[in-house]
Amino acid sequence: MSLIDAAREVRENAYAPYSHFKVGAALRGRSGRVYQGCNVENVAYPEGTCAEAGAIAAMIAAGETEITEIAVIADSPAPVPPCGGCRQKLAEFGRHDTPVTLATVDGKTLETTVGELLPGRFEVGHMERR
Ligand code: THU
Repeated sequence: MSLIDAAREVRENAYAPYSHFKVGAALRGRSGRVYQGCNVENVAYPEGTCAEAGAIAAMIAAGETEITEIAVIADSPAPVPPCGGCRQKLAEFGRHDTPVTLATVDGKTLETTVGELLPGRFEVGHMERR
């Protein structure tokens, strides 16, 4: 199954009773295994979590720490870009050139990379004095 199809599949399970905007994400770890995540909203709105965060949590729980590619899908007029927080989360486990595919359920896609999504990212080196 393609990464987009894995994202499409898990999107069906999204819990989005407030925004009614279901999102699915699927990422491949260094091992080749695929991890899926969907958005999980909460009546206390800021407690909701994004699809990307769910997929990352599944990867970490399985003992992997490197994203080699990721796909995100939603039912929107144009491919939906990850929110700012998710860009930083992707940067934690992806490289500058890690491919990101943004997709719509009706087949539009946008290819980008983790580095393009978050130029000038905050990195561990910024906490070193020299
Ligand atoms: N959302 C995601 O899960 N990922 C994105 O990349 C964009 C936004 C979710 C969060 C919230 O549940 C809903 O979409 C509306 O913002």
